[in-house]
Amino acid sequence: MVNHSRRRRPLLPIIGLLLLLLLSSISATPSHQHHLEKEEEDSPITRFQGYLRINTVHPNPDYASAVSFLKSQALYIGLQTKTLEFARSKPLLLLTWPGSDPSLPSILLNSHLDSVPVEPSKWLHPPFSAYRSPDGKIFARGSQDDKCIAMQYLEAIRNLRAQNFQPTRTIHISYVPDEEIGGFDGAAKFVASKEFADLNVGFMLDEGQASTGDEFRVFYADRSPWNLIIKAFGMPGHGSRLYDNSAMENLMKSVEIITKFRESLFDVVKAGKAANSEVISVNPVYLKAGIPSPTGFVMNMQPSEAEAGFDLRMPPTADPDLVKIRIAEEWAPAIRNMTYQIIEKGPIRDYMGRPLMTLTNDSNPWWSIFKQAITEAGGKLAKPEILASTTDARYMRQMGIPTLGFSPMTNTPILLHDHNEFLKDTIYLRGIKVYESVISSLSSFVRASA
Ligand SMILES: *[C@@H]1O[C@H](CO)[C@@H](O)[C@H](O)[C@H]1NC(C)=O
Ligand SMILES: *[C@@H]1O[C@H](CO)[C@@H](O)[C@H](O)[C@H]1NC(C)=O
Ligand SMILES: [Zn+2]
Repeated sequence: MVNHSRRRRPLLPIIGLLLLLLLSSISATPSHQHHLEKEEEDSPITRFQGYLRINTVHPNPDYASAVSFLKSQALYIGLQTKTLEFARSKPLLLLTWPGSDPSLPSILLNSHLDSVPVEPSKWLHPPFSAYRSPDGKIFARGSQDDKCIAMQYLEAIRNLRAQNFQPTRTIHISYVPDEEIGGFDGAAKFVASKEFADLNVGFMLDEGQASTGDEFRVFYADRSPWNLIIKAFGMPGHGSRLYDNSAMENLMKSVEIITKFRESLFDVVKAGKAANSEVISVNPVYLKAGIPSPTGFVMNMQPSEAEAGFDLRMPPTADPDLVKIRIAEEWAPAIRNMTYQIIEKGPIRDYMGRPLMTLTNDSNPWWSIFKQAITEAGGKLAKPEILASTTDARYMRQMGIPTLGFSPMTNTPILLHDHNEFLKDTIYLRGIKVYESVISSLSSFVRASA
């Protein structure tokens, strides 16, 4: 103890001196210090990280912070901003870069504000830290789905403005709420609004998915989800009795028939004749039956009701009326004392009754311009695909607007909705260049009929 204090005493003046030196060195180089901090704050990567750090996962997405962040970025770049609200506390941010010919249909770039929930304990790095690993991987929920495109649109426009590029067609960006829970209070209400009609959208880009190879993936349609619930009714009876047409028996018959249908289509996929997203999928998601008891279920009773739920996905090429007939006649026939309910989670035909898909051949001039712009950016497009799941793009296609799903991520594992979702910095930065090419080409495209 004594030794200690005696040894420490001479240190005090030295510490004092060091502090003085430190203070003077800071005050001597204020601009240098400031410059370093500014660089840290102002790079495309740190701006991306800033957006990723806003927690917009369900069930309580912080839409207000996300909108205020994007709005300040947009104002800095010099874009017009407008906040719309089609449902309480669910803002939609609309940005505009006016073109020199506002009479031409505009270009709309879309991105959703929300993300799916996370299980933080399963992550290597906290999901809202936007931690960048030494090899450049930026970890965050939303890094692929779809906060990357949200910021890449802005960065591309920032660069184009710095190059004094002047768009001919007006360019809009929409940041919409609730895509991950169906888009009913977001894109669905947006496309039905006067504000949307006033935009006079000619072509639209929405989110796509990562590609594990060198080619960019592009999607011309989504599958439309249906929730199917089938119910069977029958005479209840003692568990020991053998008799026909119990509710369970009738339900099991349907499950067998549906399983066979599922297998026949899955065989087509396994044989390589169609992509997973090109066939109807029907997957059982729940079974509900039995008479509850304090310890589980009454075991000596055959119940009078039984129910099953299925997730059905319809590609745009499927005929919804034929599927409905199949359900009514084979999967839940009234003659087997069954009922059914179909909950359609979005449209399957456009306002003209046409399948919800965007043409990807030369009959669609927007496709040709888009494809050419990718080539000019040094990229290559993979064969256009139907998306196995669903995005907001279906609402725009429903309005008859050609819409492509595109997120410029090559050589990236597909981690949307997964643990440890990440995007590499180099891939992100290349995506900005790709959008510079795409946005400038689309907005410069002039043809009287489109
Ligand atoms: C349907 O229900 C009726 C009335 O309970 C019954 O008589 C008939 O056998 C049932 N048919 C089938 C196929 O379950
Ligand atoms: C483009 O594709 C559509 C649908 O597959 C087809 O009907 C049309 O003939 C094609 N047009 C051209 C120019 O290839
Ligand atoms: Zn998404």
